Amino acid sequence: MLQGKKIVITGAASGIGAKTAELAAAHGAQVISVDINKPAKPVGEFIAADLSDERSIDELVARLPQGIDGLANVAGLPPTWPAPAVVKVNLVGLKRLTVSLVPKMADGASIVNLASIAGLGWPQARDVIQESNSLQLGDVDAFCRVHGIEGARSYFFSKEALIVWTMENRWTWRARGIRMNTVSPGPVDTPILKDFIETLGARAEEDMRTMDRPGTPADIAPVVCFLLSDGAVWIRGTNVPVDGGMFSNVLLQTSGF
Ligand code: NAI
Repeated sequence: MLQGKKIVITGAASGIGAKTAELAAAHGAQVISVDINKPAKPVGEFIAADLSDERSIDELVARLPQGIDGLANVAGLPPTWPAPAVVKVNLVGLKRLTVSLVPKMADGASIVNLASIAGLGWPQARDVIQESNSLQLGDVDAFCRVHGIEGARSYFFSKEALIVWTMENRWTWRARGIRMNTVSPGPVDTPILKDFIETLGARAEEDMRTMDRPGTPADIAPVVCFLLSDGAVWIRGTNVPVDGGMFSNVLLQTSGF
């Protein structure tokens, strides 16, 4: 499915990113794994980078080769981290890496961003999302203070804004055939699941009761690989929930069904 494609995967040291790297390589991709931590078993070439740091992102982009066919932005921080760190890694650093890498991408490349079902309430956050559009890494601390983005809200906000940014850029690179989509997992059994349950408390416990089981990285990685593949060329700017039916359940309930 990804034979001969050069695919960059961030967050490759753990959870969904590690599984995506493994699966992409099994589908024939030449994987470049990126993470702040060295993976125990790196897939392909490993490049260390801190996606909350401008200089580190720019050094990463300089080291990456020309002709990238795919970028999977999987790295992310849970809501137990300080709010500015969450917004930097999950949103602002991700955007900087993506936009800076476009000139090195091959025509027809695919970008896949890991959002979350935590981001599906984006229509209620329109104003603050619009204000974050041109946010730079150096401005994030002040932005969070001014807009009262603290605690778990940082995580919800980062994923809401990521879904919107992906939709907004549905046609930005259309002339070169470059497309971008988000994948939104429900609760997935990785090291950060306990952070979500800890932060969201009763709400997360209720969600977990509704589910038949939490997801696993193996439930998410095949969807990311498909979106990276040429089979998905007409899927653009959209968000794909991979959540065991959780979003449909919430949508039906809130719509009175
Ligand atoms: P994980 O904690 O297993 O993996 C996240 C990876 O990101 C780690 O390897 C970590 O070192 C890396 N990372 C963190 N900060 C970084 C930085 N500054 N620079 C570079 N790399 C950094 O988490 P998981 O579950 O695999 O999460 C992957 C993505 O999926 C995240 O974006 C997360 O928000 C999203 N997600 C996860 C869900 C879950 O329940 N596990 C649910 C919905 C979305």
